[in-house]
Amino acid sequence: MAKGKNATVFFCQNCGYESSKWMGQCPGCHEWNTFVEETIASGVSGKNMKIHTGERKKPSVLSEISLEEEDRLSTHMKELDRVLGGGLVRGSLTLVGGDPGIGKSTLLLQVCRLLALDGREVLYVSGEESLKQIKLRANRIGEFNEHLKLFCETSLNAIEDSIRNEKPDVVVIDSIQTMYSEAVSSAPGSVSQVREATGVLLQLAKGLNISIFIVGHVTKEGTVAGPRVLEHMVDTVLYFEGDRHASYRILRGVKNRFGSTNEIGVFEMVSDGLKEVENPSEFMLSGKPKEASGSIVVCSMEGTRPMLIEIQALVCHSNFGIPRRQTTGTDFNRVNLLMAVLEKRLGLQLGSCDAYVNIAGGIRIQEPAIDLGIVMALVSSFKNRPIDDGLIAVGEVGLSGEVRGVSMIQARVQEAKKLGFTTCVIPSVSMEAVKEISGIRIVGVESLGDAIGLL
Ligand code: TYD
Ligand code: MG
Repeated sequence: MAKGKNATVFFCQNCGYESSKWMGQCPGCHEWNTFVEETIASGVSGKNMKIHTGERKKPSVLSEISLEEEDRLSTHMKELDRVLGGGLVRGSLTLVGGDPGIGKSTLLLQVCRLLALDGREVLYVSGEESLKQIKLRANRIGEFNEHLKLFCETSLNAIEDSIRNEKPDVVVIDSIQTMYSEAVSSAPGSVSQVREATGVLLQLAKGLNISIFIVGHVTKEGTVAGPRVLEHMVDTVLYFEGDRHASYRILRGVKNRFGSTNEIGVFEMVSDGLKEVENPSEFMLSGKPKEASGSIVVCSMEGTRPMLIEIQALVCHSNFGIPRRQTTGTDFNRVNLLMAVLEKRLGLQLGSCDAYVNIAGGIRIQEPAIDLGIVMALVSSFKNRPIDDGLIAVGEVGLSGEVRGVSMIQARVQEAKKLGFTTCVIPSVSMEAVKEISGIRIVGVESLGDAIGLL
């Protein structure tokens, strides 16, 4: 192709992999049928991604750099501040990703409201909804003051001008996939457009010291570029997760240049927006049946936060030759493995039984620390013997039926104590670590047999 003319390349809309020819499967992320042809004006990328213009900079000596107090704004939402690492950093670019309809716009509008009430100048740019639609949503959330301005626009140039004129403290771009820059000829939502738009916003954030939130939809279809293509450009990446049918939502930090990514924020979707859930354990345990067999409470760590969760198991006689096994919220193969351990090590005849394991509340847990809970729930259901309502169990189960240690045992036991549990079953190797905790009976178990003996 002649120099200077527009060239076309193919981009994977899922991960941003670039290729000169079309491919069925992306070598980067192994998704099928995600390549779309896009025109790139030669020389555009790079020119528009430059952050610093003007005078040249010199390298600095690291030990001589003075560290003034990091300039953080509180969003007045404790859960969000926690995930951000203690507040919103000035001049940072934050990506908020998630499935459509999970509550990204609602959360950010609430944050805008709180920041505006605090006297910050906030600009909310929506490329998806009209002013009236936003107003309708805002009415459900509460009173707004004059510091919050709305802008319905998809042209990046118009947005850039507006930001340069207004110089707000915080800007929300909802969503990056609707933004359109004239410098790139491909359609809004394509990889080159999304990258270009993010590049421009990055310059604005760093140049004018504005904190910018970018909303990005996660899509499976690959018709619009997923937020993954810009994860590396932004400072912080937060993903909103949650089951569509459950009312709670989890905001998880995936990348954070200003804090840890261990933290999660828990919210509940109610009729007037998202409500912070300060005690997720209480929330997850509401509705737990009393004196029912096959139900047990376990403690799982979400980042640095312990969360008590109910596990339910149902084991019943199978009417068909091949027993059915089903799990919701946990790993199917892990449950099969634990059942095999039960058969081999304890001699339970589970081979002719159907088994269903469910993590209540629609949450997903992969942590091995819930193994002991799963096993105890299965045995409780199999023997039809209810487990004491005041008991919780944590521990990983090994193939020889041994109960192995888990991380952060103190935090887990403390959480159980806080919520009024009376007995905590833990691996005996962890007994040493919790010997100072009083007010709760702690039972150390070495093997599955010990644990089952407690039922
Ligand atoms: P929304 O913020 O529009 O999602 P996103 O921007 O991630 O696509 O979320 C909207 C969903 O939340 C919608 O299905 C309705 C529900 N909702 C409530 O339950 N209560 C409320 O107060 C609001 C504003 C929305
Ligand atoms: Mg939205």
